[in-house]
Amino acid sequence: MIDQIRGLTHQFETDLATIRDLDGYTAVRNKWLARETGLITTSMKRLREMSKEDRPAFGQAMNELRLRAEDSLGRMLDGLKLAAREQEIARKPVDVTRPGFPYPLGWEHPIRRLQAEIEQIFVSMGFRILDCPEVETDYYNFEALNMPRQHPARDAQDTFYFDEAELKLLRTHCSPVQIHAMETMKPPIRAASTGRVYRRDPFDATHSPMFFQVDVLAVDEGITMGDLKGTLEVFLKRIFHPDTRMRLRPGYFPFVEPGAEVDISCIFCFGKGCRICKQTGWIEILGAGMIHPKVLRMSGVDDSRYSGFAWGMGIDRVAILKYGVEDIRLFFENDLRFLRQF
Ligand code: DAH
Repeated sequence: MIDQIRGLTHQFETDLATIRDLDGYTAVRNKWLARETGLITTSMKRLREMSKEDRPAFGQAMNELRLRAEDSLGRMLDGLKLAAREQEIARKPVDVTRPGFPYPLGWEHPIRRLQAEIEQIFVSMGFRILDCPEVETDYYNFEALNMPRQHPARDAQDTFYFDEAELKLLRTHCSPVQIHAMETMKPPIRAASTGRVYRRDPFDATHSPMFFQVDVLAVDEGITMGDLKGTLEVFLKRIFHPDTRMRLRPGYFPFVEPGAEVDISCIFCFGKGCRICKQTGWIEILGAGMIHPKVLRMSGVDDSRYSGFAWGMGIDRVAILKYGVEDIRLFFENDLRFLRQF
C-alpha cells in the first residue's frame, strides 16, 4: 500500500513538472482531479479491495494527495496566468508617449469672464473692487441713494422683499456700493463693484429677473464731470473697441445731479446706422452723473469740500453687444451648445 501511494505521489509530481501552458495544466488537472474519472477518485475506489486495517491509512494518504494536488495546481494556474499577461504585454508594448483621452474641462461663463475683465480695467486705473451684499436693506438700495419711500423712481426697480419689518430686499442695482464705499473709506475714494442684481421683470429676450451690473464711483476734492468723462472713455474704449466714441445726454437718476445717459457709437455699423442702433448710429449703454450732495451728506462726506462721480452699467448688456447675442436668456439657460462657443 505504501508503495502504491508513493507511486501515485511520484507520478503526480512528474505530471506537474510537465506543465508548460494552460492546455498542459488542464490536462493534468483533469487527469488527477476530474470528479468521476480523475486518478484520485478512481484510486479511492480501490479502498473496497483492501483489508480493513489498511483502509484508514490509505484513505487519509489519498486525501492528503488530493489537497496537495489542488494546492500545487492552484499555484501553477496563478503562475501561468501571470506569465500569459506578461507575454501579452511584451507582445503589445505600451507607447507611453501617445496622447491620452481628453477630459472635457469646464471654463468660465462668458458673463463671469466679462465681469473679471471689467474689474481688471478698474484695478488698472487705481480703483478698489468691493464685494457688496446681494441681500440689501431698503436704506442702501433706495433711501441713501435719495429715493425715499414714496419716490416714484422706485417703481422702475420693483424688487423682491424678504420681510416688511426689517426691510430686507434683493438689491435692484449695484449703486449701493457708493454708500458702502463712502461709509467705510475716506476720500480720495475710487471704488467699483460688480455682481448680480434682481428686479421684478419678466424673463424674455431683453429682460431677466436677475442680471449683472457694475457700479463705480470716485470721490475727492475737485472731482468734475471731466473726470467722469475721462474715466468713462478709457473704460469704453477698452471694453468695446479703441475707436469707440461716446456721448452724454441729460438723464435723471435721483442719486446724481447732474445725471446723464451715456451712448456709445454703434459697434456694429460704427455709427453709420443699422438695425441694432435703429439707424441712429448710437447705442445707449449706461447711466452716470455727479453724486448728489444729499447722497454725499447722508453717507458722512462733507459736500462743501468733496464732490464725486458715479456710473453704472449692465454687464449682460455689454455681453449681448460684444458677442452679438440676440436673447439675454441664452446666458442664463446654460445650454452647453451655446456656452461652448465662447
Ligand atoms: N443704478 C442705475 C440703474 O440700475 C444705473 C446708474 C445710473 C448708476 C446713474 C449710477 C449712475 O451710478 O450715476 O439703472
